[in-house]
Formats: sequence, C-alpha cells, structure tokens
Amino acid sequence: MVRDFALFYPPAIHFGSGCRFLAGELLRRVAGGQQPRTYVVCSRSVRAAGVLDELAGRIGISWCGIYDQVPHDPPLECVDALIEQLCLSSADAVLALGGGSVIDAAKAAAALAPTADGVRPFFEGQRLISRPGLPLVALPTTAGTGAEVTPNAVLSDRLKGAKRSIRSPFLVAAAALVDPDLTVSMPAELTAHSGLDALTQAVESYLSRQASAVSRPLAGAAVARLLPQLPRAYRDGQDLAARTQVAEGSLLAGMAFAQSGLGAVHGLAHPIGHALSLAHGLTCAVLLPHILRLNLPACRDELGALATSLGLEDAEALVDAIAALCVDLGVPDGFAAYRLAEADHAAIVANCRSGSMKVNPRSFSDTELLELLQRLS
Ligand SMILES: [Fe+2]
Repeated sequence: MVRDFALFYPPAIHFGSGCRFLAGELLRRVAGGQQPRTYVVCSRSVRAAGVLDELAGRIGISWCGIYDQVPHDPPLECVDALIEQLCLSSADAVLALGGGSVIDAAKAAAALAPTADGVRPFFEGQRLISRPGLPLVALPTTAGTGAEVTPNAVLSDRLKGAKRSIRSPFLVAAAALVDPDLTVSMPAELTAHSGLDALTQAVESYLSRQASAVSRPLAGAAVARLLPQLPRAYRDGQDLAARTQVAEGSLLAGMAFAQSGLGAVHGLAHPIGHALSLAHGLTCAVLLPHILRLNLPACRDELGALATSLGLEDAEALVDAIAALCVDLGVPDGFAAYRLAEADHAAIVANCRSGSMKVNPRSFSDTELLELLQRLS
C-alpha cells in the first residue's frame, strides 16, 4: 500500500433519499448566489420518466437548454456537440442527470466549454485541461460508475477505434448528489451491470498498487455493501433498503478508485467492450473472477484480509463468492456468446495497457493475455 495520495473530490457530496432536491441550492451556490443559467444533460429515459420535470418544479430553476442524446460510450463528436450547445446557450452551470455516459460526457463538455478546439487534442494527450470550465452538479440515476466523484471521463473515438479516459482535477464535479430514490426504476439487467461495475471498481481499488490509507477502507466498505445487497436489488427493484446500500456502495467505490486507480479488469474491459459493443459493467463482470484467480498469488494477503472483514474464510472463498454472484446475476463465464473472435485478440492486447493495467497487483505478458482471451472466446 502506498503512503502518498492526492484527493480530488467534489467540494460537496450528499448521499441519501431526497438529496436530489438540494440541486437548486447547490446550483445557486456555484453561480455565486445568482440564479444560474443551467444547462441540463440527461438520459432520454430519465427525461421521459418525468424526473427532470419533478426536479424543476421542486428546486425553482428553469433550464436554458436540455441535451438528451448522449449514447453509451460517448463519442468525441457528442462532447463537441455539447460544448457548442453550452456556448450557444450562454450557460453558466451544468446539471448532469443520468448514468455514467451522461455524466462523463457532461463533465468533459463542461470542463472544455471555454475552449473552441474540441475535445480531440485532450483525448489524444496533446493538451491538458489547464483551467476550470463551467461548474457541474452531478445526479447519478444508476448505481455503478462513480462518475459523479471521479476526476476523469471515459470517451470513445469512433474514427480510430479507441475508448479511454481523459483525466484532470478540472473534471471533478462541483457537487455530487447521490439519491438512491433515483435508482429504483432501473430495470434488473441495468441494476446487475451497473452494480457489478461498482463491485469490480471496489475490488480493483482495494487491490491496486496505488491503494492508500484513504482509498482502501472506502473500497472495503463498498464491497461490504455491494456483495450482499446486489442480489436483493436485482430481484426486487422496489427494495429501497437494498437500493440504498447498493447506491452507497457505488459512491464509496467511486471515491476509492478516484484515488487508487483500478486494475487489469478495467484495462481489458475497455478494448473488449469497444470490440464487441458490450455494456461496460457486463464486460467487467465476465472478466472479474478470471482476473482475480490470476491475481491471487500476487495479492493473497490483501484479498484474504478483505475476505475476513466480510466474514469469509479466505481469499479463495471471496473469489468464489464473487464468481457465484456473477452467475446469480446472469453473467456468462466468457465472451463466446458475444462472438469474441481470435481476430480481435491482438488489438485488445495492444490497447489494454492503460493506467488501470499499470496498477494491477501483478503484470501480464502479452502471451498470458492472449491465452486468457483464447479461454474466454
Ligand atoms: Fe468501471
């Protein structure tokens, strides 16, 4: 475990039933006490469900524009379109209401709204975000990605076939409001996929080479909520107690990995998800038990300590419990059903060596990764 750490969190993080209604107060605060010109980025389903109308009625803020066209794995073109909308509408604050894709696209556009160059040079690493953009208040409607508290945004380059993060302290939201009531209407499959993303993020953060005295307790607390409560939230979406525990676990996992980074599951999940157009959380969940078994010799003590804290006997018992949860939530044991082909393997290996891969408890050779992909195909 490293001793050094740097913390980049939203200055206000609220958790709890009904906290979404603090959005008005927080938007006025980030606008210096004025009535802000607030631009909303939200998912289509959330808008159709009337969540936005309910919020507007309660917080007394009208919107200067609404964008509800963010696709999964938001492409660079979507962020550029959003930057243009933010500039055209003279917005001075952004409200992001949706899942990880919506929040990530909104964070990137809000951070870059003062620039006219588009997101590509920042995505390709030629430029760094060097100043604050528009303040953003994030309200997640899924319990999984942790995007409301992380200093990065995962984007896709459809032109060059790449999916990765841009990172900057200026991508941190001005406020995160995690209201479990917003997750109650999530369908079972989305509950499983987003929740398993959160669990993967918690476990990878716990085992990361960059885990710190701050991140590891957060990651452990996240696993303690997600592992027992995810099956309950999956089977009965109206179980508000389970929804609350899963939403809290997701937030804690986000706060943990925002500091520690992730691991090999996320390193591989981005190019595999991109190659197969597969949901991120599902891709992570297929990989998680396999990577944990490969990691075990390098992190037996850490995984054993986490297992004991959960009342399990040892590291192997924890890996078995995670594998059983994935089966329980309908996750297959490999990618054969999604047509992972041998022709995809080389590109996946070539594109998996991200920051996530570097903090995995052990390194993998290209040959080892190709063998793993062969087994999973
Ligand atoms: Fe993830």
